[in-house]
Amino acid sequence: MMHAFRKLFFRLLSHISKHILHLLPPESSHALAMWGLRQDLMPDLRGHCDKCLFQNILNRDFPNPIGLAAGFDKNARVMRPLFKMGFGFVEVGTVTLFPQVGNLKPRLFRLRQHKALINRMGLNNVGVEAFSSNIESYHLHQDEGRPLGINFGYKAGPDNLTAREHLDKITSQIAKFKEYGDYFIWNISCPNVKGGRDKQFSDELLGDLKAIRDNLGDDATLLVKLAPDLTEETLNHLLNTLKNCAVNGLILTNTLPNTPETTWVDGQHSNETGGLSGAPLKEISTNLIRLTYQLTEGKLPIIGVGGVSNGADAYEKIRAGASLIQIYTGFIYEGPWIVERIKQELTQLLHEDGYASITDAVGADHHQSNNLKTAKS
Ligand code: FNR
Repeated sequence: MMHAFRKLFFRLLSHISKHILHLLPPESSHALAMWGLRQDLMPDLRGHCDKCLFQNILNRDFPNPIGLAAGFDKNARVMRPLFKMGFGFVEVGTVTLFPQVGNLKPRLFRLRQHKALINRMGLNNVGVEAFSSNIESYHLHQDEGRPLGINFGYKAGPDNLTAREHLDKITSQIAKFKEYGDYFIWNISCPNVKGGRDKQFSDELLGDLKAIRDNLGDDATLLVKLAPDLTEETLNHLLNTLKNCAVNGLILTNTLPNTPETTWVDGQHSNETGGLSGAPLKEISTNLIRLTYQLTEGKLPIIGVGGVSNGADAYEKIRAGASLIQIYTGFIYEGPWIVERIKQELTQLLHEDGYASITDAVGADHHQSNNLKTAKS
């Protein structure tokens, strides 16, 4: 009874806060939301999840498959309230070796008519040292072991370090987060910093991955985050390289590079340079998930992200081959209640199709119709 009341109260709060926040410019509204979250007044909505949403994947227990994507909590400051909202896992970062102020403002735009965002934040973050103390203090207060992902990346600095030296230093530093973080993600698909996507097309990738493995150790779970606009040839090449470096999984996908010349959408702000996220990215990212699942024969776990704003969107990505789902733009447009809603809708969709567990539905679109019948029977 109390839990139902808390849910109702939260739903109302979520609705009101969403409308208030959207009256402000996007970055101010993000700052206000972060402030609100830091007050940690959120009712605890973790409650009971239908057991069909549970999975053990990447050697971790995920109570439900809906996670928060990187970039929202860049500095690892509000993990606790985010978990209380009911996320099954949370990814923090992207963190870089040194603090970064990012690109000049304005650098975040709402494309309301498309339920999309364009951002060119430029990996603004407090740097790995300050990030480290945030993670450590979270751990001291941690009361429930839900998986936490730590996303790191490279940003050329005003220092004399080479890209490899940067990578060596940051991965040696984050190796000490192993007791706090459950998995690490190397972001090689950021469209908003110089060279942020280059590793995907570079011969240095193999050597870099080996260096990361050496620093993190063989026991660390390592994922790589890729761009949505890769050709099949590039993807194939990348997958072969990743296979040789014991990469444990992929995050598909980051935002789609948008420029005035190559804009994907029309209307206000469509000419802004930056990464496009939200509804227009949905199909492109799902197609890459589908292709990757095919090429890897479903052997490499995929976290699917891009344009998910309801249970049907999440289910589509799961059937295409994603084991877990992340959201960002949908969370901004729909408000925190979206987490609970997706979980409810997804549970219903799984039941309707006769799946006792989400694990059976992962990659279902690829299975032969007789396999599908077995899963349903
Ligand atoms: C992002 N994203 C992102 N990804 C990442 O790996 N590191 C980062 O620092 C950021 N920063 C960031 C900032 C903003 C404002 C947005 C909108 C997005 C990308 C994000 O994690 C996700 O991959 C995409 O946004 C696609 O998912 P959605 O937004 O369509 O659900």
